[in-house]
Amino acid sequence: MTARIIDGKAVAKKLRAEYKNRIAQLVAAKGVTPGLAVILVGHNPASQLYVSNKVRACADVGIRSERIEMAADVSEQVLLAEIDRLNADPTVHGILVQLPLPAHIEVRQVLERISVAKDVDGFHLYNVGGLLTGSTVFPPCTPYGVQKLLEHENVQIAGRNVCVVGASNIVGKPVAMMLMQQDATVSICHKLTRDLAMFTLLADILVVAAGVPNLIVPQMVRTGAVVIDVGINRLPDGRLVGDVDFEGVRKKASLISPVPGGVGPMTVTMLLFNTLRSAERTVGIEEAAPGL
Ligand code: GUN
Repeated sequence: MTARIIDGKAVAKKLRAEYKNRIAQLVAAKGVTPGLAVILVGHNPASQLYVSNKVRACADVGIRSERIEMAADVSEQVLLAEIDRLNADPTVHGILVQLPLPAHIEVRQVLERISVAKDVDGFHLYNVGGLLTGSTVFPPCTPYGVQKLLEHENVQIAGRNVCVVGASNIVGKPVAMMLMQQDATVSICHKLTRDLAMFTLLADILVVAAGVPNLIVPQMVRTGAVVIDVGINRLPDGRLVGDVDFEGVRKKASLISPVPGGVGPMTVTMLLFNTLRSAERTVGIEEAAPGL
């Protein structure tokens, strides 16, 4: 068996074109332009790049974005006051504080200050808790991107065995909750899991977000499984790879996402979608997120 390769870039492009149309309609019909505020504290080069990508993606689909830069030594009070200002601004529909934050700032305080209705990253405890009952306002972007890819590829979720490798707050745990909400049987594995292969071999759908190159080799994958690789690792030779031995596993899986070009392009796409949805909600356009 040789797996079909999921083209995350193409799916992201198609979705962004749809969102661009929806945004144009919202502007034309209601006079509302979705707005996203992105706060960047300090000069972390990776964060600067991520923020630039988000701002550019907003411009491409017609979302107004506001990039707010603060010095690395900004006080927590000043940062919280800025969030309060954005919470009160009706032209801002989404607020995102780029992580990581400098050590002197308490991350939870900051994330909890963002209005739940504008928490397009899905990191506020209310949104995190909502994942448990399927009532989240905004699903977090990377897990939401995984779900959208599975949906786009018509992968059946209900009744399937899912194994999530990696139990982080931003990927592993939320993706597990989202797929459990859709009636999958989910196991969550992590650094201390003994006999990892025993779990991965049971999986009809294997989602890997551990940050360990080549963690998943063909012997650990069930023939015909769907394999979603959320890992992003930079090798010493400069290559970007996921957590899955792609060349080996693609011969055994039925469907596989590559790195780069799989889940990656979906994360910012879902941020755009959450921001659009937030703006639509302010004018009373409601839509249940599928499966959530
Ligand atoms: N840093 C790395 N990934 C993310 C993300 O998805 N959102 C935010 N706010 N910060 C990040």
